[in-house]
Amino acid sequence: MKLFVEKNYDDLSERASKILIEEIEKNKNIVLGLATGSTPIGTYKRLIKAHKEKGLDFSKAKSFNLDEYVGLNGNHPSSYRYYMDNEFFNHINIGKSNTFVPNGKAENLEEYCKEYDRLIEENGGIDIQILGIGTNGHIAFIEPSEELVTCTSIVKLKESTIIDNSRFFKSIEEVPKTAISMGISSILKAKKIILLANGKNKANAMANILDNDKISTKVPASLLKLHSDVTIILDEEAYSETRRR
Ligand code: F6R
Repeated sequence: MKLFVEKNYDDLSERASKILIEEIEKNKNIVLGLATGSTPIGTYKRLIKAHKEKGLDFSKAKSFNLDEYVGLNGNHPSSYRYYMDNEFFNHINIGKSNTFVPNGKAENLEEYCKEYDRLIEENGGIDIQILGIGTNGHIAFIEPSEELVTCTSIVKLKESTIIDNSRFFKSIEEVPKTAISMGISSILKAKKIILLANGKNKANAMANILDNDKISTKVPASLLKLHSDVTIILDEEAYSETRRR
C-alpha cells in the first residue's frame, strides 16, 4: 500500500490526476472505475484540463461507476449519472455508450446487478479504480456491517450516509434509502486502486484503517489492505487523526 499525504485538496487532486493521466496515456483502451461525491471533483477537473489543453484522449476508454441511487433516473440532478455527465463526461471525448453508471430505474434490479458485474468482466475488468471514503468508512455504498456484499447488489444506506449525502438533495426526505453498489470483490478485482480522502471529517475513518494491521467489515475500506496495488492519497486534515494516534 502506497501512502501520500498532501498539504491540501489541490495537491491531492494533482497527485491523483497525474497517476490517472499516466495510466490513460499508457493504455488508450483503459477501463476506468469511477466514483462520485465531492472528493474526486478536483481530479476530474484536472483530467478535463489535460484533455482540453494537452489532448488527453478518452476516445477508446470505458468507464464503470461504483453506484447509483435506486429510483432515480439519469436526468434527476442528484443522480450519479447526472453528476458524471456534468462533472466529467460532457467535457471529454469519451463515447457516452462507453460510460456505465448503474441504472437505478432498472426493472429487475437483482438481475441487473448481476448483469453489471458481467459487463465489467466482458470489458476486461477495471484497470484503475478511484474511490472516495464515507465518514463511516464505507467505499462505494458498501456500508459497515457484520457481513458485506461481494458482488454488485442492492444495499440499504445507513442513516449517517443519508445525512452526509443530503447536501446533494433539496431535503433529507428526498435521499433514497437504497442504492445499487458494486460489491467488495467487484472492487478488489480492479488491477489498481486509488483511494482519496480530504478534510477533517474523514480523519477518523482513515485512522481506523491506517493505525493498525487489521481488516474489519465494520470499516469496509480496510478490506483494501487485501489488494496488492492500492495508493492512498490524503490531505493533511484527513491524515490528522492517524498522526495523532
Ligand atoms: C460515490 C461513492 C461514495 C463516496 C463517499 C465519499 O460514488 O461511492 O463511497 O465516495 O461517500 O463521498 P464524498 O466524496 O462526497 O465525501
